[in-house]
Amino acid sequence: MANTQGTTGLLGWIDERFPLTKMMREHLTEYYAPKNFNFWYFFGSLALLVLVNQILTGIWLTMSYKPSAADAFGSVEYIMRDVDWGWLIRYMHSTGASAFFIVVYLHMFRALIYGSYKKPRELIWIFGVVIFLCLMAEAFMGYLLPWGQMSYWGAQVIINLFSAIPGIGPDLSVWIRGDYVVSDATLNRFFSLHVIAVPLVLVGLVVAHIIALHEVGSNNPDGVEIKKVKGPDGKPLDGIPFHPYYTVKDLVGVVVFLIFFSVVIFFMPEMGGYFLEHPNFDPADSMKTPAHIAPVWYFTPFYAMLRAVPSFAGTQIWGVIVMFAAILVLFFLPWLDRSPVKSIRYRGFLFKAGMVLFVVSFLILGYLGALPPDPLRTALAQTCTFIYFAFFAALPFLPMIEKTKPVPERVTEQ
Ligand code: HEM
Repeated sequence: MANTQGTTGLLGWIDERFPLTKMMREHLTEYYAPKNFNFWYFFGSLALLVLVNQILTGIWLTMSYKPSAADAFGSVEYIMRDVDWGWLIRYMHSTGASAFFIVVYLHMFRALIYGSYKKPRELIWIFGVVIFLCLMAEAFMGYLLPWGQMSYWGAQVIINLFSAIPGIGPDLSVWIRGDYVVSDATLNRFFSLHVIAVPLVLVGLVVAHIIALHEVGSNNPDGVEIKKVKGPDGKPLDGIPFHPYYTVKDLVGVVVFLIFFSVVIFFMPEMGGYFLEHPNFDPADSMKTPAHIAPVWYFTPFYAMLRAVPSFAGTQIWGVIVMFAAILVLFFLPWLDRSPVKSIRYRGFLFKAGMVLFVVSFLILGYLGALPPDPLRTALAQTCTFIYFAFFAALPFLPMIEKTKPVPERVTEQ
């Protein structure tokens, strides 16, 4: 006899004990997503794919990696040379780290241009920003594990920043390292945080992110709420079931992504020193500082902001504040942007021009953060840092002067 879900057999037996069919309906076959999703909507599912890749390859790397200052570098060499397919697993993980940031930056940019952080999606966005923070912590701690020169000195530089905090700073940085310099103790705790603590939080946050998304429904390139116009059956007229339509569409994104991902893994895993920095092929040496210390590319925009602020009275604290403020300001975006219009398609020239300036400044900062500073570069970094913050500062005032276009009732088909 069929149950309330109308299922029988094994599925029926499960459904009477666990809401399997109910959940599949709620989140897949009866989750109505706007029918006008475009290219930009691939990056959420791709971020999920990269997350799974990082967890699986991470588990396998952990089987042969040794988290001690004496053995770490050698164990990575062992994985690369002697473990069956070890080189592939390691390159999938190291390339996956950069791919994660590429995908997440594009995913965040999509939210910016379509106003996906606006009411009622503020919490989806806030969970996203916390995910972004965790991702940065995860990548930073993971980079110490191969115990190469850049692992060591990068960690040294970043942890030292905390000592700029007045009063508690010096003690705080010793507490983070577990020692007076980056050492075996630091490596051990970073390993523990990198393989279990942060991934656990990350997975929990991603689940919360998607539950929040499914509660309010997805935004779309028109910024139109599809739930407002429903048919006689109560289903949004501009919505289509996520499965099979978007599961199939997302598969196209997955295939294209995997092509690019494979090309990097098999032909250019170091990506010219951007994905794996050259000094990291030398083991960590606490007596030999590399000539130029730069973080991996995904941190360089924020690193450039840190360096752009001159130190006052011998303290870097203002640079540290600016760097953290650049990330924290994202939390306030849903309340800073007061425009009644969500999508950039219907916003005025000023917003579009501001967005272009913002993105160009961020890219320039990323470029500058990878280079040694000189007076000209510092001046340029200061200008770009100013533009970055000016974009957020201008948002609340923009609606007073911005001429927006009328937003259609229904989504448009392009
Ligand atoms: C591990 C990282 C992440 C994963 C796995 C993830 C996953 C997803 C998925 C599957 C969707 C639905 C599909 C889509 O709209 O593309 C989504 C939507 C969304 N995500 Fe993320 N996300 C991540 C990080 C972030 C970050 C860092 C932010 C922003 C700071 C963010 C903001 C959003 C927003 C605002 C939406 C709703 C978009 C809309 O409806 O237009 N996400 N996310």
